Amino acid sequence: MDFSNMNVIVTGGASGIGKAVTQGIVKCGGHAIVVDLNVEAAESVRHELGEKNVSVYKVNLGDSDEIRSVFARILNDFGQVHVLINNAGIVSTVNFDEVTQEEWNKTIAINLTGVYTAISAVYSSMKKYGYGRIVNVASVAAKRGGGLLGTSAYAASKAGVIGLTKAVAREGAPYGISCNAVCPSLTLTPMTANMGEERKKKILSTIPLGRGASPEEIANGILFFASDMASFATGEISDIDGGVTMDG
Ligand SMILES: NC(=O)c1ccc[n+]([C@@H]2O[C@H](COP(=O)([O-])OP(=O)(O)OC[C@H]3O[C@@H](n4cnc5c(N)ncnc54)[C@H](O)[C@@H]3O)[C@@H](O)[C@H]2O)c1
Repeated sequence: MDFSNMNVIVTGGASGIGKAVTQGIVKCGGHAIVVDLNVEAAESVRHELGEKNVSVYKVNLGDSDEIRSVFARILNDFGQVHVLINNAGIVSTVNFDEVTQEEWNKTIAINLTGVYTAISAVYSSMKKYGYGRIVNVASVAAKRGGGLLGTSAYAASKAGVIGLTKAVAREGAPYGISCNAVCPSLTLTPMTANMGEERKKKILSTIPLGRGASPEEIANGILFFASDMASFATGEISDIDGGVTMDG
């Protein structure tokens, strides 16, 4: 895959799957623009991969005004954003009757409204250039109603991402903008590091491949849809889940 001369925004690019995506972008010659709340971790990724290969912007993706103002700065700083990877997210793991309004609002704000706002902040520029690749990170939870780690609020936010992906794919197609999503299952990242052995065993028993993914295994799929290797794919919701879903 070749990302040379491309500016690629990776939200949540400082950790886990996003960090593996950032590494892949740089390895394939691109400029990664890491947008993350954890600026310290993002700076350390930048240090690791080379200062000129990675730029860092601090954004709380739960704050739409902040997303719009920082993304406007990014467009101003680099002109064209070729690729947007909406990877950042949080998980909500409590039972339905324990979800508070606050937890619901926060999960939807970061996982769904944040994705909408980020796309909205680059969409007209991509339209102007006649080129854009958007990849959203949803989850197996969206398809099966949670039940692995994330529960109702998480599943609903990620199901929203799937609908949004298809709608943007449909409307963006005439302007050279593709929009695809990947649905990982258990991936070994800081998000899933503290879930306890009992829960992990239960989750693993539902995965035909019998193990969790490495962040790189998920990043590989994301990078494919971000690249011109996927030039005829749009609106695709791609399971990278060790065989959990296997739908048609
Ligand atoms: N790990 C899994 O098992 C798994 C499974 C399915 C889907 N996913 C999805 O993959 C994506 C990446 O997950 P991960 O496991 O790498 O998580 P992670 O916790 O390792 O990393 C998430 C990154 O997003 C950033 N982030 C979180 N909230 C933010 C906010 N409000 N504003 C800006 N940045 C914020 C964090 O600082 C971090 O760098 C998420 O969307 C997650 O829902 C993960």
